[in-house]
Amino acid sequence: MAERRKTFLDHHQNLFLRLLLAFFSIIGATSSDGTEVLRRYERVRFRSESLLASVSAGAAPSPLPSSSSSASSRVYHVTDYGADPTGKIDSTAAILRALSDAFRPPSNRSLIAGVADLGGAELNLDGGSYLISSPIALPSSPAGNLKIHSGSLRASNNFPTNRYLIELWPSQSSSAYNYEYITFSSLMLDGNYRAGGIAIVNSLRTLIQSCYIVHFASDGIWIQNGHETLISASFLGQHITAGADPGERSFSGTAIRIDGNDNSITDIVIFSAAVGIQIAGQANIITGVHCYNKATGFGGTGIYLKLPGLTQTRIVNCYLDYTGIVAEDPVQLYVSGSFFLGDANVVLKSVNGVIKAVDIVDNMFAGGGGGVDIVRLDETGGAFTSIDQVVVKRNSVNGMTVRSTAARASLEANGTIWTIDFSPILLFPNRIDHVQYAMITSSGFPNHALRNVSANQVVIESDVAVQATVHVAVEQCQGSMA
Ligand SMILES: *[C@@H]1O[C@H](CO)[C@@H](O)[C@H](O)[C@H]1NC(C)=O
Ligand SMILES: *[C@@H]1O[C@H](CO)[C@@H](O)[C@H](O)[C@H]1NC(C)=O
Ligand SMILES: *[C@@H]1O[C@H](CO)[C@@H](O)[C@H](O)[C@H]1NC(C)=O
Repeated sequence: MAERRKTFLDHHQNLFLRLLLAFFSIIGATSSDGTEVLRRYERVRFRSESLLASVSAGAAPSPLPSSSSSASSRVYHVTDYGADPTGKIDSTAAILRALSDAFRPPSNRSLIAGVADLGGAELNLDGGSYLISSPIALPSSPAGNLKIHSGSLRASNNFPTNRYLIELWPSQSSSAYNYEYITFSSLMLDGNYRAGGIAIVNSLRTLIQSCYIVHFASDGIWIQNGHETLISASFLGQHITAGADPGERSFSGTAIRIDGNDNSITDIVIFSAAVGIQIAGQANIITGVHCYNKATGFGGTGIYLKLPGLTQTRIVNCYLDYTGIVAEDPVQLYVSGSFFLGDANVVLKSVNGVIKAVDIVDNMFAGGGGGVDIVRLDETGGAFTSIDQVVVKRNSVNGMTVRSTAARASLEANGTIWTIDFSPILLFPNRIDHVQYAMITSSGFPNHALRNVSANQVVIESDVAVQATVHVAVEQCQGSMA
């Protein structure tokens, strides 16, 4: 295998030399501008080296990317506009010039009505790390089908606070949507504790993937209105830490804040921020998210659903790591397949006393044995009074206190009264909506009945004393006929 790889490498080294020679003959024949040639040569050399590196790493060779010297290319290299990839000099103006060119529609085609089709143009950050002093704001003319990728942006010490490194947020817009199908990929965004990461306002079908967003002051990503932003395979943290950070108590900001509908957050790690994800919009889905942003014990929250009355949120296959979920007046909330570590739990918080159609099922909870409830009602703002279809069950629990809306127990005794107290396990106080019981006895055929279900206790009574086992199953608020 090693021998074969070496031959492969030699072959491609030859290919590289031939390409380089061909390249020199082309620029020798066509160029008159010495600096321009030098810059393009640097870029081709860099790319050729990357190709060689990938070949020697055993990767399949890919053809050299076509040079942007072609007049029709829609790949805009920020270094061609004078941006400084070493991050010493402010590159804001250069990047904005490149962006402005990328934003010139090549045709009169459009995406959704009113949004010009940029044809797949790319703003290429050329693997550099750029210092910027004001937001890279997309031009206000509605447009889409553009990708911004492959480099780092860092806010300077005079970057305006309360703004974002990248903004899809025009001061005014003539269209129903500002932007459509804008892709952010392989970007590191460093807010320098002044800026937010990316603001996406009134945009349609935005992609954020393979990004690393840190040192945000306010939010890592903020979405308002619009819909279908997909955030995937990315890392967000206010402070760069791998956990157990001595400054954890002072983490602030929100990694992802969503004030809009129909977005998806998939395969994300949030490693510091006061709140991992805050949602105030409907029909968002969160999957595969690992939150260890700020422990609940320090006042942090993993996922905060601030949408009383119509939550419509699914949280599945997530990992809440010492930081939990809080949902205000949840109506249609589904939490499943998730792992809660370090006493992380779900808090259902009453605002107007409404809780409806909530499923918290099939999760794993692990804690330190201190008696923390896996699911807790926070009724400091008033008791839940409108309660319907709440199912909390089938969760596996280790070192925490089980809370459930369904429970069962058996009691063996000799006498006339069997009392089973379900209050240590039932989620809602003083509420049993459904009971089934069976009495098993070999001492005759006594008359018996269910006599009382108040205070989450079930009382069964027989007319004569018998040695009997009573099996009881109870349910709370699971819906009238369900
Ligand atoms: C778009 O451009 C083409 C060619 O430039 C032209 O024929 C067509 O009428 C234009 N369509 C609209 C809607 O302006
Ligand atoms: C149950 O208790 C009664 C008296 O209360 C007694 O007569 C009877 O033997 C007991 N039965 C059993 C199985 O212990
Ligand atoms: C049911 O039990 C409660 C105490 O748990 C008691 O206050 C109440 O009077 C009982 N109701 C009846 C009908 O016995």
